[in-house]
Amino acid sequence: MIQLDYLGYEPWPSPNNLLKDLERSAHVTQTIINKLDPGQEKVHLSPGLNPPHWEFGHLIWFHEFWVHRHGQQSNPSLFPDADELLNSSVISHDDRWQVQLPSLDILQNYFSEVMERTFTILRSGSLSPEQAYFIQLALYHEDMHNEAFAYMWQSLAYTWPLKQNLGSIEEQQNGFEPRYIKIPQSQLQLGSAPNTGFIFDNEKWQHAVLVPSFSISSHAVTNGEYLEFLKSLSDAGVSFIEHQPAYWKKEGDAWFERFFDQWLELDLKATVRHISAHNAEQYCLWKGVRLPTENELSLLMASPHADWLPSNLWEWTSSTFMPFKGFSADPYQDYSAPWFDGKHRVLKGWSSFTPNYLRRPQFRNFYLPSRSDFFCGFRTCLI
Ligand SMILES: [Fe+2]
Repeated sequence: MIQLDYLGYEPWPSPNNLLKDLERSAHVTQTIINKLDPGQEKVHLSPGLNPPHWEFGHLIWFHEFWVHRHGQQSNPSLFPDADELLNSSVISHDDRWQVQLPSLDILQNYFSEVMERTFTILRSGSLSPEQAYFIQLALYHEDMHNEAFAYMWQSLAYTWPLKQNLGSIEEQQNGFEPRYIKIPQSQLQLGSAPNTGFIFDNEKWQHAVLVPSFSISSHAVTNGEYLEFLKSLSDAGVSFIEHQPAYWKKEGDAWFERFFDQWLELDLKATVRHISAHNAEQYCLWKGVRLPTENELSLLMASPHADWLPSNLWEWTSSTFMPFKGFSADPYQDYSAPWFDGKHRVLKGWSSFTPNYLRRPQFRNFYLPSRSDFFCGFRTCLI
């Protein structure tokens, strides 16, 4: 039976605000795609990548499918064969390299036509709950793919065409003393409550959890701290190659880190990024600490604690991504349900590439613990 929870994700945003957000995200997508040099759209087959033009087509298809075709394949698309070519639930990852995609001009027209139809709805000034929900779903889906473009561009050493940086941790740390914060036993309201606006199905529903007392680091692990770990492995005669962050290199005694297409001297005070959960746990083992659980990190991030610093990175937890009791899938059934496979880990927070409106304490991200290509880091708890 189809759950209609999503029709109650009020309050709905104003059409005008939604229009602005959609225009901003469309500008991001267009800039990323338009600034690719000829030939850069051809990328090698890899689990962390999608062919950029396929991904562009896919996010338009998704928007049209849910906003204008009401999630029904029987409603025709503006683009013939869209369902066969661009539906991520139908076309396997590796097959995305095999399909014959239309030209970029055709995809651009498809994008403009679909967006214009949505802008027309929004300019009318009134939205049904159905429209408000699906326009938000399409917007946030596009934002997530824009963020995926960022980590793909990082993997490929492409120039990032937007003004964006990771934020200087030194600025944030000005006058701030890193320490462990002791949080007493607390009652956490985990998940999202009804009538708190748009939520994803994996946040349903808010429930109380008793979290025993714990001590959590006020800041995420830095490059300098992680480097100490690598040095200790080296001193012990152990190869540290498999623990080395993917985009680091050593020249003489100096370490460098690649940020998109630029090699920069490693900033020891900056937060270490592109660390898999497995490597984060190896670090913890060496340091005699542990990763926080989803409950612990949720508690920290929901608190207006003036003492803790956000990292602008998705932060790993030790918790497996699982549904809350009473979970039911929303119309886009493949958002969460296929990933409750016992293999994915929960991450909390946001990255520099996440729009402000998705930086909610209730948001649950999830990745395989072996992944380090996206913008992730970690903080630790005392044992
Ligand atoms: Fe998608």
